[in-house]
Order: sequence, then structure tokens, then C-alpha cells
Amino acid sequence: MDKSDSRSPEQRWTQLHLVESHLSRRDLLAKCAALGVLAVVPSLSFADALDAWDRSQGRAPTPWNELGPFYRKGAPRTLELRSPGDRGMPLSVSGRVFDTRGDIVPGATLEIWHTNDAGQYDLSGYHYRTSLVADANGSYAFESIMPGHYPARVCQHVHYLVRAPGHKLLTTQLYFATDPVFEGNPDRNYTKDPLIQSRELVRPVTLTPKAGNVTASVSFEVVLERA
Ligand SMILES: [Fe+2]
Repeated sequence: MDKSDSRSPEQRWTQLHLVESHLSRRDLLAKCAALGVLAVVPSLSFADALDAWDRSQGRAPTPWNELGPFYRKGAPRTLELRSPGDRGMPLSVSGRVFDTRGDIVPGATLEIWHTNDAGQYDLSGYHYRTSLVADANGSYAFESIMPGHYPARVCQHVHYLVRAPGHKLLTTQLYFATDPVFEGNPDRNYTKDPLIQSRELVRPVTLTPKAGNVTASVSFEVVLERA
């Protein structure tokens, strides 16, 4: 926390809420914790506190986004979409699947696909395509590379098709706050891609030094509506 900040915690909360109102509640609370305006008792981890909060408040369903023309059925389950020597910044994506009551949805199937570094889809095989199953905690994760841009689309993106028994099918896409198209200001510029109808789908990116390289890490949680 900035020690020179003379604002009260309430003032900082109000300012933060105004600035960050587009963020998910979970992101907002994480930022509040980082600023020191939110704390949890020592007996509870911050993640557990957030889970408890989410369960008590309910959650908005993840916004729908187009399926697009490059979906292919039958992608094999792989956690490592990147092949040795592939161009592009390494990318780690992880998240959990919830329902709108904030309950974990274990066993959801997440079909995921994106382009290579040059913005090309694999239309004959399954490179950069996978079909994952969320574990008992609703968690999923995969390793890949940051997708490229391609002429028909403005922004880098990862496609998701998520299904779980008793829930509505979700088609959506993940975007990256670091996309050059946003010029460092996704709040103002996310509509440069006309297909991005919700700022919620543009996720923060954390760069982490890893094995002599830099990996981009993104959290993308999915909230399904009950059928
Ligand atoms: Fe696409």
C-alpha cells in the first residue's frame, strides 16, 4: 500500500469501486486486499474467504461470445497445447467452474481452441485444441502460447465451449488485457473488437519469469447457468 496515500480506506474503496466496477467481484476484492482495505482473519486463506463470499453472493453467468467458424469436434484431452520449438510467448491459463449460486461445478467439460502465434488455426489436426474436464474442485488448467492475431478478428482470443450436466451450454472467448489493440487501456479500448461485448471477458495478464523465459499467466473462471 502507498504510505503517502492520505485517503481513508472508505475513500480508497469508493475510488477503486468507481474505477474497477467493470472487474469481476473476485478481481475487485483481490485488489482491495492488495491495497489494504480488505483483510481476512488469519485462520482463513484469502482464496477460501473469496469462495465463501462468492457462495453467499451468487455470481453472474460468464458472458456469451460467438462460437466462430473454426471449432472442431473431438479434440483430445491435453494439458500441454504447446509443442517444443513453437513460436510465441508461453501462456498458462487456469480457472474454476462455478454456477450462478457460487457452487463449484466439478466434472464440467471445457473445449478450448485458439490460433498459433501467426494467427492460424489448425484445421486438419488438433494443435492448440483440447478438451479438458474440471476436477473435483471445479479447477482446470492448461499450458500453451499466446495466440496471434488474424485478419478476420481484431483481438487475440481463446475460444471456450463449456458443458456440464444440468447447466446451459456456454460458448465464450477469453481476451487479454495486454493485447496491443487495447493500447494499454482495455477499459477504454476493448470495443475496438466489435465482438467483445463485455469487458468481463478481457482478463489481466501476469508475467512470470520461468525457465529462462517469461510466461503470461491468466485466470479465467467460468460461471454456468443452471438449465
Ligand atoms: Fe477465433
